[in-house]
Amino acid sequence: MTPAPMADEIGTLKTFFLSAIASATTEAELEAVRVSALGKKGSITALTRALGTLSPEERKTRGAELNTLKNDILAVLDKQKKILSAAAMQERLVNERLDVTLPIRPEAEGRVHPTPQTIEEIVTIFASMGFAVAKGPDIETEYYNFEALNIPSSHPARDMQATFFLPSAEKTNQTVLRTQTSPVQIRTMLHKKPPIRIIAPGRTYRCDYDQTHTPMFHQVEGLVIDEKTNMGHLKGCVMDFLRAFFGIDDLPVRFRPSYFPFTEPSAEVDIGCSRAGGELKLGNYGDWLEIMGCGMVHPNVLKNCGLDPEKHQGFAFGMGIERLAMLKYGIPDLRTFFDADMRWLRHYGFMPFDIPNPALRG
Ligand code: DAH
Repeated sequence: MTPAPMADEIGTLKTFFLSAIASATTEAELEAVRVSALGKKGSITALTRALGTLSPEERKTRGAELNTLKNDILAVLDKQKKILSAAAMQERLVNERLDVTLPIRPEAEGRVHPTPQTIEEIVTIFASMGFAVAKGPDIETEYYNFEALNIPSSHPARDMQATFFLPSAEKTNQTVLRTQTSPVQIRTMLHKKPPIRIIAPGRTYRCDYDQTHTPMFHQVEGLVIDEKTNMGHLKGCVMDFLRAFFGIDDLPVRFRPSYFPFTEPSAEVDIGCSRAGGELKLGNYGDWLEIMGCGMVHPNVLKNCGLDPEKHQGFAFGMGIERLAMLKYGIPDLRTFFDADMRWLRHYGFMPFDIPNPALRG
């Protein structure tokens, strides 16, 4: 009798494939082992096919042995596959780890222009004092821009603000590019009942061009109307804002009597500074710098908006946004804000998410 056919081969294949499975280091290698054992042209498949050449008894014994081998190999393959796929996932988790708390890459090209950056800072501070943001159109009528604000056409204040008129056949109530954000006061009081507490940042236009004037610039207007807001509240509000904005806790703030047609009494606000050595520095150094206008809303303005000055009162203020930005960030020439010069923007612009001083952190 010849020795039992296939018995040796089954044993050899078992040893071979178990070791091949154990040494596979990736799922792809493991799959290759599976194919070479159990695939269409695999060694175990070939042996199964050869069963037909054996005697019936031999076929039964070897068939059972081959089945066991197949099941053993499948079980070990499955176990190894789980181990390798878990290891692969672990490696991906380590290699593809992303720290979303890292700051954005410093080489990012885009910069936030100082004007919107400053607007954001202003809005943040006033929002923390309970102010909402109001908006009005850039193209206004003379009524909203002047008359309703107690500036009649004969008033010299009209000449103080070199106005751009839009072409028109009309001689009265012409359309203008707003010379100030103050018309937003009127629009707000006409559309909303007190209590009112708004700021209105936006574009303004005057026919002027030099180191500190451009035909378009930005202002922010403030308005508070209720039944008891007084000059003391105005002073506290303006002082808190200026100290938070410039990040100087003891910044001196002075209110100087002044004149605006839409407020009575009116004041101009100065902040402390030093001009020693030709360099402007803000702080408690004994010198003063004018920064904004303000006052108690004039009874005529309240009346023009349908409010009773016997019942309602409040304050308003207005300031130039680029002027604030120039002072805070040491930018010497207003015209450069509007040159669209990338070198300037790279120098004076802000990284997105920059928070310029601790007072502004929420
Ligand atoms: N509208 C003024 C200007 O453009 C600024 C201003 C001053 C606004 C005093 C105010 C204010 O609301 O009360 O020069």
